[in-house]
Amino acid sequence: MIRKISDRAKPGSISLGLGEPDLRTPDVIVREAVRVLQEEKSGYTLQAGLPSLRERIAADYPHLKLTTDQVIVTAGSQEALYLILHTLVESGDEVLIPNPGFIPYSTILKMIGAKVKRYRLPAANDFSFNVDDFKKQITARTKVVISISPSNPTGRVLTRAELEQMAAAVAASGSNAFIVSDEIYRELYYLAQRPLSISEFYPRTIIISGLSKSMRMTGWRIGWLAGETEVMRAALVLHGYVTTCASSISQHAGLAAWTDEAAAAREEYRGIFHRRRDHLLSLLRNELGLRCVTPEGAFYTMVDVSALGDEMKVAEAGLEQGVVTIPAAAFGDESRGFLRISFCADEQRLSEGVRRLGQALKTL
Ligand SMILES: Cc1ncc(COP(=O)(O)O)c(C=O)c1O
Repeated sequence: MIRKISDRAKPGSISLGLGEPDLRTPDVIVREAVRVLQEEKSGYTLQAGLPSLRERIAADYPHLKLTTDQVIVTAGSQEALYLILHTLVESGDEVLIPNPGFIPYSTILKMIGAKVKRYRLPAANDFSFNVDDFKKQITARTKVVISISPSNPTGRVLTRAELEQMAAAVAASGSNAFIVSDEIYRELYYLAQRPLSISEFYPRTIIISGLSKSMRMTGWRIGWLAGETEVMRAALVLHGYVTTCASSISQHAGLAAWTDEAAAAREEYRGIFHRRRDHLLSLLRNELGLRCVTPEGAFYTMVDVSALGDEMKVAEAGLEQGVVTIPAAAFGDESRGFLRISFCADEQRLSEGVRRLGQALKTL
């Protein structure tokens, strides 16, 4: 759906559609990749990935006391998501996902034949977590709950209290469900503190994350899956048959993401995206008079266009004027009437994109 809209963009269009950082991968990673290519063998690694890389990943979640056997390096977090849902869920199983939420959650679950249920993140409350609705949706039969923070598409971060509420509701449901926690945007936040992981409150959590967004490495395809040993053992069988191993060059280069230089690059990147966020929000609110969500992480804002009619029509009008936005009903019916606008573009392009969106609104 997102690709379909983006593919229809006219030449010269400004994309506020895709969630892909427009900035280059930091030098510290690129230098390391070049060195690896020139100096090291680039054959297969262990199927689960380089032990040194898995050690670093495990150390990022000290509260879980993970061994390297509890971490699998995957070809992006998308593979991790696919593996874990196929490992934990069987046809007919009940799985609870956020509404709105990242499209592949429901698509992969449909492929499996799972019974998808959704917990509402109410639009009227800027897509905040609503524990009452969550409690209504979870049952003793729920096998897996998917949680995401910071969220795609809303940019919202779950607070400590919300994570505690979610963890307590799952624990009280009698389901013994796993929580699959999508943490791919965890390093990209605009709050004083890094968002917390639900795994700090609910031990039966499987973590999905990777380097695509935090290190601007989307094309390098490095993600990971971490959690209970038995689950990882089963997921590893699938991973082995699907990809053998993630790219060894990317894995070696990815080790540099745990250096001080990489930490400084992440800090700088957060600053850039923070400024872009503020610039975009101010334009949408002050120039176009639109209501939009203040994202606390990731690089998306949800813009309320419900007063202008069907959001697909608004997105189509934008395409005509040369700006790509995403009709957010694609993420779930809760975000009907919204556009998801990403700020993976510099301030000048954001200004021009919003100007074009303003032109489009005048045609409606
Ligand atoms: C919420 C979410 N999870 C997972 C992914 C997959 O990212 P990757 O496979 O590049 O790690 C994305 C990519 O846009 C995403 O937005």
